[in-house]
This record gives sequence, structure tokens and C-alpha cells, in this order.
Amino acid sequence: MTTSNPTPNAELSGWLKLREAADAASRSNALTAVAAGAARAAADGAPVRVLDLGTGAGSNLRFLIPHLGPRQHWLVVDRGEDLLHDLLMRTAPWAASRGLSAAIAAGRLTIAGSDLECVVETTAMDLGPLADRSIFEDRQLVTASALLDLVSPSWLRTVAGECRRHGAAALFTIIYNGHNACAPEDTADGRVLALFNEHQRTDKGLGGPAAGPSATEAARLAFEAEGFTVRSEPADWAIGPDSAEMQRYLIDGWAGAAREVSPDDAAVIEAWRLRRLAVVEAGASHLAVGHFDLVATRSSQPNG
Ligand SMILES: C[S@@+](CC[C@H](N)C(=O)[O-])C[C@H]1O[C@@H](n2cnc3c(N)ncnc32)[C@H](O)[C@@H]1O
Repeated sequence: MTTSNPTPNAELSGWLKLREAADAASRSNALTAVAAGAARAAADGAPVRVLDLGTGAGSNLRFLIPHLGPRQHWLVVDRGEDLLHDLLMRTAPWAASRGLSAAIAAGRLTIAGSDLECVVETTAMDLGPLADRSIFEDRQLVTASALLDLVSPSWLRTVAGECRRHGAAALFTIIYNGHNACAPEDTADGRVLALFNEHQRTDKGLGGPAAGPSATEAARLAFEAEGFTVRSEPADWAIGPDSAEMQRYLIDGWAGAAREVSPDDAAVIEAWRLRRLAVVEAGASHLAVGHFDLVATRSSQPNG
């Protein structure tokens, strides 16, 4: 972490907090159960060992802890040290609100209760080159939330190979699938959202040009090639007028990405942004964002 800018990810952290409830509500319970069953069976009574890639401020961790049984060990990895700090600061009160004790020491969180012993180890690392493969060792579950649209197909093939090598199941959730819709419709929706999807395919530093809207299919191919059985289910957001802050963030983000791809369209995009924000202010805006959840298990693991 640099000293000149101690919280470079403050805006991202705020966004991750804003979307946490929407992510949790849209996730597939069936695929969560498949992943949890596979990981617990592989752990065979020992602590379930999980790797969370691109963990951010820990939304995936907090969603999954209640599903993974009484003894868990988590390795949570992100390049943002400040995000990992936020993860610890959000997860400790989250645990306390459930009547669990939570202790933080040296970047590690220990959560304990009558039926839970959970250790969370944080590691700051650039996952782009996947240079340190030791993070996969001894893991029964490799997971990531809202990450897969940023990664390349070759990055996914590497992760699938590591999951096979270490006998881990994989659960990837909230994978953007390229289907956005705004209501009421605006004449420029199609143009701006197409530019946003083009931006989704640019290189995000995770192994080359990102799979973007094709990430679910790229993950399916990568894991099937390693002998996994893959299942996916919709995990869409439907964001209503009561989530105005989330809507404003999305509209600004779509417009910003569209401008980057096509600076010549800046005026059209800005006019669109202002019209859409006015609809949000009027309490009449509905946004839909398409996602999939995906689980990959080997035939020796239960897959529901
Ligand atoms: C959209 S956020 C999702 C965060 C979290 N999984 C969640 O669902 O709230 C993507 C995360 O990936 C992390 N990330 C992106 N590129 C990365 C890289 N090259 N190495 C490590 N982490 C990265 C970001 O810092 C960010 O926390």
C-alpha cells in the first residue's frame, strides 16, 4: 500500500458494500449447496479449506461461511491491501451480530462460536500472472464472486488445471453475462450498453483480454476440459427505484466505460447519462443486470 494514497480503492470498497445485499439475494441457492456439499465431502470432517480469489471486502466470504460447516479455513486474496483491511473490519462486526466472537491479529481473523471455528487469512497479491500457485494447495473449494468477467480464458484454464490438480471444486458467482436492460427505455440505451460490453472485453490485467460477457462459457470450457461437471444458473439483478444509489453508480460506470471505448460518442453518452439519472431521481427507473453462477465438480465429488 502506498503512503501517499492510503485508500486507493475507497470508491470500489463503497461499491462492494452497496451491492452486497443484491449479490446475496440473486445467488443460486442450489449451486451454493452443490459447492458446499462437494467441499465438505472432500474435507471429510477436517476444516473445509477455501480460496477466495479477488475477495475485495469479503462479500463472498460472508455469504458462504454459513454454508460450509463447523470448521473452516479461508485464504482470501486480493491485490488491494486496503480492501483486505475493509474485509476484516466488516467481517468482525458481521460475526459479532451473529453472536460469534471475532479476533483480528496480523491480517488474520478468527471467528468462533458454539458451532463454528473459522480462520480467515488475508493475502495481498496480484493474481494476474498466477505466479504463486501455492494458494491452491490443499483447498477443497476455489471461489470468486463478481470477478470472472475480468479474467481471460487462459487465466481460467490455469485455474481449472490447479483445481483439478488439488482436487478442489469451484464456485464462481455473479458472473456478468452481457445482458443489461433499462426501463423505461431510452433511444441511446442500445448504443451505450453495447459500448459497455465492448469495454468488458478489454484487458483487465488478469491474463489478457477479458472474457467479459462470455466468461461463463469460457469457464465451462476450461473446467470441462479438466474433467469437471459444470452447472450454471441465472443470478440476475433486478434493481428497483428504492436502490437509487446503486442505480446511479451503475449508470455512471456504464457511461464511463462507454466513453473510454468510444470518446467520439462522449456527448451522446453524457446526454444519455443525464437522462437516465433524471429517471432515477424521479423514482421511475428499473435496471436489470444479467449474471450467472457456475459450479464445477469432479465426478468423485457430489454435484447435486
Ligand atoms: C468487482 S470486485 C469483486 C470483489 C468481491 N469478490 C465481491 O464480490 O464483492 C473485483 C475484485 O477483484 C480484485 N482484482 C482485480 N484484479 C486483480 C488482480 N490482478 N489481482 C488481485 N485482485 C484483483 C479487485 O481488487 C476487486 O476487489
